[in-house]
Amino acid sequence: MNKEVEKIYKRKIKEFQKHNKLYYDKSAPAISDREFDELKADIINLEKKYSFLRSTKSPSDSVGFKPSKNFEKFKHKVQMLSLSNAFDREDLINFEKKILNYLNEKILLEYSVEPKIDGISASLTYINGNLTYGVSRGDGSEGELITNNLKTIKDIPHKILKKNIPKEIEIRGEVFIEKKDFEKIKDNFANPRNAASGSLRQKDPKETSKIPLKFIAYTFGFISENKFKNQSDFLNELKSWGFLTSDYNKVIKSTDELFIFHEQFEKKRFDLNYDIDGLVYKVNSLQLQKRLGFTSNAPRWAIAHKFSADHAYSEILNIDIQVGRTGALTPVAKVKPVNIGGVVVSNATLHNEDEIIRKDIRIGDTVKIERAGDVIPHVLEVDIKKRDGKSKKFNFPKKCPCGFDTIKEFNKITKKYDAVRRCPDKGFECEKIAVEKIKHFISKDAMNIDGLGKKVVEKFWDLKFIKLPQDIYNLDYQKISSLDGWGSQSASNLKFSIENSK
Ligand code: IVH
Repeated sequence: MNKEVEKIYKRKIKEFQKHNKLYYDKSAPAISDREFDELKADIINLEKKYSFLRSTKSPSDSVGFKPSKNFEKFKHKVQMLSLSNAFDREDLINFEKKILNYLNEKILLEYSVEPKIDGISASLTYINGNLTYGVSRGDGSEGELITNNLKTIKDIPHKILKKNIPKEIEIRGEVFIEKKDFEKIKDNFANPRNAASGSLRQKDPKETSKIPLKFIAYTFGFISENKFKNQSDFLNELKSWGFLTSDYNKVIKSTDELFIFHEQFEKKRFDLNYDIDGLVYKVNSLQLQKRLGFTSNAPRWAIAHKFSADHAYSEILNIDIQVGRTGALTPVAKVKPVNIGGVVVSNATLHNEDEIIRKDIRIGDTVKIERAGDVIPHVLEVDIKKRDGKSKKFNFPKKCPCGFDTIKEFNKITKKYDAVRRCPDKGFECEKIAVEKIKHFISKDAMNIDGLGKKVVEKFWDLKFIKLPQDIYNLDYQKISSLDGWGSQSASNLKFSIENSK
């Protein structure tokens, strides 16, 4: 199944590359703008649905902007390599064993432990304290010179105002976008990583500055003189030079403790402001790092300990239909509660009617559920081996719960019917749509009435206090204060919050 998805994805990427080249390099497009946009949207949707899909050639790296082919190339003085991965305790033990074998010594190793930020790495060269070159990783040997774009990032100092700094030092770290900032722009990008990448590669730094990028520093590349003893000392120094470093950096002294820390951290990974996909362990002593050196593609002294799979299997107990603000009917699988990466999941979206048919998902099936980052968990596929005679096909309702006949719009360009079934109501007649519209009306993106949450809207709706958005401005606070769980204080707080939002 995943192989099939990957095949489709790769084909689309190839097609996209071809048309992208025709359009931007040769200025001779072979397909219409609309078809080109649709191709891009197809790729982005696939990436959104299947988090394992990723290509550096994806349009999500540059969507919303023209891709720029005009950056000057820049050769890294010290290659920008990647890290080897560890997935379990055995991998970790082997990692340490190899190090000790290589050093041919019996010593207690100390590690600098850092979150593995899921962003885009960048290199900053400071000469006499001045930021002179800012470069992307590129293929590891050669990157793009993007100094002016990097300079728009507030966390990147243009000058290091300290004496005693090396004459030339290359500081490396990760450019990323915080989850809350990604929320505001997510319609254009598959994930925060793609948003950061697309923004960094803008021709015009003004475009880069529109997206609030962050930079966390974590290592050095070329350094003219190195007076640091440990990686942890270097990280502390970076902070004092004005760089942002991770608040979660830590020194740990044994693989057992590394493992325990990893287990604890995995549970809180989703509480962080940014996406991380594991922890990085680096031998703390820089002298030992130097002795250990590199293999052809990764340092011997570091490893990325990835977080466990972001998926689990569970049984579909039922399928509910949710109606959104735009009238889209979304099928949601109610599943036997299952723990995915430390969070109990009992609902998983099935996206739309076509997806249920395409994946042949039935009630009673055991399905693979994925929960990646903050997105709503979704059903990936059926575990067909587990299907018994009892699983039941789901008949997608042709009517909205409000009673209206639903429709699938016909797309004149693709000559296909929309995958999404909708309630045709455009106003407030459909109760499901009306409640969602009111929830949207009070939300942060609209009137921002923070004293009136979604649950309260539902309650007031049931009590018929609110039927239309304007009813919010004619509430009877006397009545509200006498409700269960309310009082005169909370009613007056609500009144204040509504007034405040006007
Ligand atoms: S050190 C020679 N530290 O992970 C290794 N990398 O797979 C230098 N990353 O390309 C990298 N957080 O983009 C290092 N605390 C961290 C990191 C980190 C994220 C990324 C980086 C690198 C990739 C390696």
